[in-house]
Formats: sequence, C-alpha cells, structure tokens
Amino acid sequence: MAHQPSSNLDRLSESELTAKLELDLLPKHVAVIMDGNGRWAELRGLPRIAGHREGINSVREMITLCLELGIRALTIYAFSQENWNRPTHEISALMGLLEHYLSTERASLIEQGVRFRTIGRHDLLPQSAQHWVRTTEKETAHLDKMILTVALSYGGRAEIVDAVKALIGDVQTGTIQPNQIDETTFKKYLSTHPLPDPDLLIRTSGETRISNFLLWQLAYTELCFSPTLWPDFRRREFLLALIEYQKRERRFGRVLSTVSS
Ligand code: IPE
Ligand code: IPE
Ligand code: MG
Repeated sequence: MAHQPSSNLDRLSESELTAKLELDLLPKHVAVIMDGNGRWAELRGLPRIAGHREGINSVREMITLCLELGIRALTIYAFSQENWNRPTHEISALMGLLEHYLSTERASLIEQGVRFRTIGRHDLLPQSAQHWVRTTEKETAHLDKMILTVALSYGGRAEIVDAVKALIGDVQTGTIQPNQIDETTFKKYLSTHPLPDPDLLIRTSGETRISNFLLWQLAYTELCFSPTLWPDFRRREFLLALIEYQKRERRFGRVLSTVSS
C-alpha cells in the first residue's frame, strides 16, 4: 500500500507528529531504499550527482531522528549490485561521494555513538573507497547507540548464494551436520547477522519494488512506499512513515488475538 499522509497529519507540526508516536512500539530495525535522487536533480535541471549529494542530508537527518527516538538499527541501500550497470561517470561520482561522506562524517558518527557497518561485495569498490569503509568500520566498532548498516555493491540474491557457499564449506569441514541446518542456522550466514530482521522498510520515490534488497530478511517486514523523492525525505516524512507503521496490524500469519509481540 502506498504511503498517503492524510491531510489531517499534514497540518501537524513536527513535535505534534512526534507526540502521536507510541514510543514503546517503534520499529527496532528500519531499512530504507533511498530512491529518487536522480529525478530530484533532473526536476531542477541539475546533474544527477547533485541529487545524490543532497540525499546525504536526508541520511544525516534520519540517523539523528533514529538516535532521538531510540531506534537502534538503520540499514540503508546506497548502491546495488545492479547499479554497476550505470554510466561510468555516475558510478565514479557516487564512489567519490561515498569517500567524501566517510572521511568528513566519521567524526560525527563517532561523537553520536553510531557503529558503521557495510554489507555487500566491497571487493568490487575502488581501493580508496574500500580504505574509508574499513577505517570507518574499525573506528566505530566499539560504539553501540545505533548500528548504521550501509548496503554497498549489495544484492540480496548474491547474499543468499554467498551464505549457501559458506554453509557448504562448514558442512565439508564437519563444523555443522546437514541435519542441523534450519532457518535459524542459515540466518547466521547472512551478512546482516546478528541484526534482527527489519520491522519497517521504507522505499521513497514512488517505486513499489524491492530491487534485490534484503530478500530473506524482509519476509515479514511492513512495507511503506512513499512518493517523496529521497532528497526531500526528511524528519517529517520519516515521522509520517513511523505513524503509518504503528497503524499496521502485524499478524505473522496468525490471527490477531494470538500475536503477542
Ligand atoms: C537512488 O537514486 C540512489 C542510487 C541508486 C545510488 P537514483 O539514482 O536511483 O534516482 P532515480 O531513481 O534515477 O531518480
Ligand atoms: C535501488 O534503486 C538501489 C538503491 C537505492 C541503492 P534503483 O533506482 O537502482 O532501483 P531500480 O532500478 O529502480 O529498481
Ligand atoms: Mg532509482
């Protein structure tokens, strides 16, 4: 279902929206497909990279709001495996932006107590980007106010294939017996381990697809599709998505009266 802020909510201020939230029923893990940067720029007659650059401000606001609300896990899709098929100049601009973000924002992540992690095939990133990813992961490894996971060169199908390969390796060495393999064991081989599955997935820009993101982990996630382009998706829009999430009934295949969580 598309996210349609009611006109009622539209009139409310940010603090009135915050007051509408039930703080003990917030999602523990939010995942975001940050889409629409290119269209945001094109609408303004700017190069696509200007949209990616502006999108960083939305990332910053979302991290801050998660910290304020006590949402401890945020996973953002920054670059998909399929995004390698974009024009070379856009890929290099995105990699440059990633390096710039990590080198300039590292101090603020540390100050805010944010642990930075990445998922995806980093070995495909340029050396200098890999350097900044490793440095930021290392320097924030001890922090625990929030875990920010950035999906870079990530594909959900590739993640599952990699997990299967690692599992087969452990079967071959006898670390695990085939009859011990179940969903709980398999999950440990996924790159998001030990994060819980996302409770809420937000995709911006009006597209209503998953685009190869967290295919296993999203099995029972509430999906919120917002028409807003990512660079315009700020605190207000995030609060509206959280309010919509709190209106949902999460049944996990059961009938409502038996769902305890
Ligand atoms: C999302 O914005 C960012 C990345 C995929 C890196 P897009 O670049 O996909 O923007 P649109 O969808 O073309 O507007
Ligand atoms: C999904 O956006 C990937 C990221 C946001 C990083 P895309 O713009 O690449 O997805 P499609 O091509 O519309 O499915
Ligand atoms: Mg897009």
